[in-house]
This record gives sequence, C-alpha cells and structure tokens, in this order.
Amino acid sequence: MNKKLGLLREKRQKAFEGGGTLRIESQHKKGKLTARERLHFLLDEGSFQEIGMLVAHRSTDFGMEKEKYPGDGVITGYGTINGRLVYVFSQDFTVFGGSLSETHAEKICKIMDLAIKNGAPVIGLNDSGGARIQEGVVSLGGYADIFYRNTLASGVIPQISAIMGPCAGGAVYSPAITDFILMVENTSYMFVTGPNVVKTVTHEEVTSEELGGATTHATKSGVTHFACANEIAAIQNIKALLSYMPQNCEDKAPSVPYEIQNELRPELNSLLPEVASTPYDIREIMDHVIDSGSFLEVHKDFAENIVVGFARLAGRSIGIVANQPAFLAGVLDIHSSIKAARFVRFCDSFNIPLLVFEDVPGFLPGTDQEWNAIITNGAKLLYAFCEATVPRITVITRKAYGGAYDVMNSKHIGADMNFAWPSAEIAVMGAKGAAEIIFKREINTAKDKEAKWREMEQLYSDTFANPYRAAERGFIDEVIEPAETRIKLIQAFKMLENKVVNNPRKKHGNMPL
Ligand code: HXC
Repeated sequence: MNKKLGLLREKRQKAFEGGGTLRIESQHKKGKLTARERLHFLLDEGSFQEIGMLVAHRSTDFGMEKEKYPGDGVITGYGTINGRLVYVFSQDFTVFGGSLSETHAEKICKIMDLAIKNGAPVIGLNDSGGARIQEGVVSLGGYADIFYRNTLASGVIPQISAIMGPCAGGAVYSPAITDFILMVENTSYMFVTGPNVVKTVTHEEVTSEELGGATTHATKSGVTHFACANEIAAIQNIKALLSYMPQNCEDKAPSVPYEIQNELRPELNSLLPEVASTPYDIREIMDHVIDSGSFLEVHKDFAENIVVGFARLAGRSIGIVANQPAFLAGVLDIHSSIKAARFVRFCDSFNIPLLVFEDVPGFLPGTDQEWNAIITNGAKLLYAFCEATVPRITVITRKAYGGAYDVMNSKHIGADMNFAWPSAEIAVMGAKGAAEIIFKREINTAKDKEAKWREMEQLYSDTFANPYRAAERGFIDEVIEPAETRIKLIQAFKMLENKVVNNPRKKHGNMPL
C-alpha cells in the first residue's frame, strides 16, 4: 500500500506544480497569481474539492504525447464562499498558456453540468491563450460545448467570469454569455481579433490594452461590468456580488437579519436642488434610502446616465435602476437602455426585487441615436421591465417625461407600486417645448413673444409639472415626502414578498435584439 500511496502522492504533487517553477515565477513577475492561488483566495479555507486533478490530454500531434501535465491546464471543482456552495474552474496559464484542449473543455463542462443539476453558481477564472493550437478542431468543439452549457445555464444559476489574463478569439463568447464579467486592470484583455490582425485588416495601430483592456471594456464597450485594480480586488468583488444573489432561479434572494427602527430620513426633504434643471447625484439620494453602505454598483463607468447595482433594504437584496441627473441630465440613450435592460433581466431571472429611481427628461435626440437604433435598443429596456415578474417599485423624484415615463417601470407596464415626491413632474414633455407647440399661435401673434412664451410655459408647468394629475388617475399610488421614502419602500417590498405573476405560457419571447 505504501508504494501505491507514494504513487498517488507523487501524481498529486505534480498536479500542484502546474507548468513548473519557472513558469510560475514568470506568472508572478507579470503581477498575476497562479490558478491555485486564486482559488485559495476565492474559496472558504479548506472548502475546495478538486475534480479531475489527474486528467491528461489525448493529443499525439507535434510530439504532444511527451508533454503532459496532470489537470491539463485547468483546475476544476467545488467549494464554498461564505458557506454557500459554488462550482469553479481556474485556468492555469503555466500549462500550455492555459489553452483549451478537448480534455480541458470536458473538465469545465463536467462542473457546469453538476452546477446546473445541483443549482449553484459557476465561477470561471479565465487566463488562457485560447484554443490549444496543437489540437485543432477538437479544441474548437470544446469551446462550443462550453458555450452551449453557458446558454442552458443562463437564468438557471448565476454565472460569473473573471478575466485574469488573455481571453481572445472565440474564447470571449463564454464570458459574454455569463451574467457578470470582471476584468483586472493592466493584466487582462479580451478581444475577438488582436492588435496584429487589426493592423493588417484596418491599418489601425492599437495596443492590447487600448483594444481590449479592462478600462476599455469598462468605459467604451461595456463588455465588462467591473474593472478591478488587481486580482485580489477582483476576487473580493466576486464574493460581494454573490452575497446579493440566490443560488439558483428557484431560490429566494438572500436577506440578512434586520430590525425595523425609526426609518424616517428627514435629510431627504432638502437634498433635491431648488431649480428643476440643476443636476444632482442620484447616488446621494439612494444612500439615504438603502441600508447604509450596501450599494454595489455594476457597470459603474459605462453609460453613466443610468446607475444600476445591488443593494439591501431592511436586509433584503434588491436591484436598483436609477436615472442619473448628474450625467447627460439622466437622459435615456442606447447604451443606458442596454445596460439597464440586462441588469433588469438578471434580477428578474433570480428573484431579486427591483427598485427604480426616476428622473428622466426623455430619450436622447439625434442622428447618432436614431441611426444606431435607439428604437430597437430603447425597446430592450421596455421589454425587460414589461416581462419582469419580481416585485417592482418606482420612486419618481423629479422628471418623468414622454416615452421614458412609460419605460421606467410605470404602473402600466406591470410595476406594483409607483411613488412620487412632491417635486415630480409627469408629463408628455418639458413645459418650454410643450408651450412652443401647443400655444404656437398665441406666442407668434403676441406683441412680446418672449413674455407670452414664458406665460404659456408657466401655464403648462402649473398644469402638469407636478405628480397630482397622475395621482388622480391612480398612476401614482402615493405622493410621499422624500423623508418617508425608506419606510414606504420597506413596507411595500414586504407587502409584495409573496407576489406571484404568471405571464402567458410561451416557448420564449422574441425580445428586440
Ligand atoms: C497552445 C499555447 C497557446 C495556445 C500560448 N501557448 N497560447 N499553447 N495553444 N493557444 C503556450 C506557449 O507556447 C508557451 O508555452 C506558453 O503557452 C506561454 O505563452 P507565451 O507566448 O510565452 O506567453 P506570453 O508572451 O505571455 O503571450 C501570451 C499570449 C500568446 C498572448 C496568449 O501566447 C499568444 O498569442 N498565444 C496564441 C493565442 C492564439 O492565437 N490563440 C488561438 C486563438 S483562436 P511554453 O512551453 O513556452 O511555456 C481561438 C479560437 C477559439 O482561441 C474559438 C472558439 C470558438
């Protein structure tokens, strides 16, 4: 037995060594952790159970049969994060550059299958040179097997992808299908074609970082939801993110114990600027409404005219979508619609109630928006809210104009409660533009056109720039003092706790894509 134990120990030891000391040193020199170190920081101490440690590739071309590493470049298994089960894979760049072989893919598929069957999140730590070049098409097949499972798992279990090194070519499409992508600044990149191909095809000179680094994807493309300063920050971010999510779509959103105290927030009565056109940061308002310090912002640096993220209200997880008056006056445009739609769909998939703060002057006008399909893209947000069956509440702080009023979780599209502050303005459009159209004749025939315009603007404003017309109709359930917002929301979400809505049975909808 001792001999046999020795053999097992030797094999395990070899697996722990990955691609060997020199390659591990090279990984560290680049400021990167190894695949095993990452798992050590991610999972609860001692909780990791490895699956497939001794898997080896089957390739025989190019002398590959002589070069085998137990595990074949990816560490897979399960463990816990804050006591909750998760499945993980962590690509090992020290073994063939973390490249994906047939067997490497099979290992990932195995834990994905287990995760789907057992209803727990999958976390992928990606650090790979892409398809294993020596293997050809079997490697491509392996990728497709993963994409297929990503899609089947979508909406069933949360899927999180951390990019901690290269992620290029078709390999990017697995993270793209998952729910959240995190990238590490300066050491990770994602692109479909790299700088060399770009140079050949389009003659553009661009670095990897500019083309597909964390900052690029966090600000320009929106591909990544989080750009993290380093790998440890990324790992902490994953843990924080998971704390708001249920284990699967059948599970309730998590909540932490909370005792109702005095929930009035008098300071909210004086936070809005006196003048309705003055910008303010919606996050300041949110901070006084949600549980202190509980906001985890998603897509922070992309489409900043809308703010989305997770928070807790009286201990319960909620998702927040908020127009941001401090950026482009909080207008809805293509990027903000897509950003919010995806977030709404995630929350709805995983039973996370939605809270909307609304202060929106409408959709952004212009050829750029129209030619790039604001119609289709704006409809994504509309569609996402319409089909969401989780508890949904809106607070209108100021403007709710035009189509954007309908889109931003109005009662008409299935919101459960709409509250408005006394400062709310709910109308087809702003008073100035409205007066110009409907009082055109009066203005044009007046001696002092400017004065007449102002007079008519005031008339329109007095009629509609308030929440009371909508409240008379029941479109607004209650006009509340800002100070009451937190307690009203706590009570309303509690009231909606057991909400059941069954949309018409269908195979799946055909959302505007
Ligand atoms: C096999 C690979 C590999 C790959 C890297 N390696 N990529 N082995 N298949 N795809 C190996 C290298 O031979 C090297 O082995 C080790 O990994 C580290 O690679 P280096 O080049 O030394 O590292 P670095 O300088 O950091 O560069 C990393 C890199 C580069 C930028 C990722 O290796 C690279 O460009 N690799 C090829 C990327 C690529 O074209 N992949 C295919 C994309 S197409 P040794 O033995 O020296 O340690 C694709 C299609 C997917 O992925 C389609 C899905 C539908």
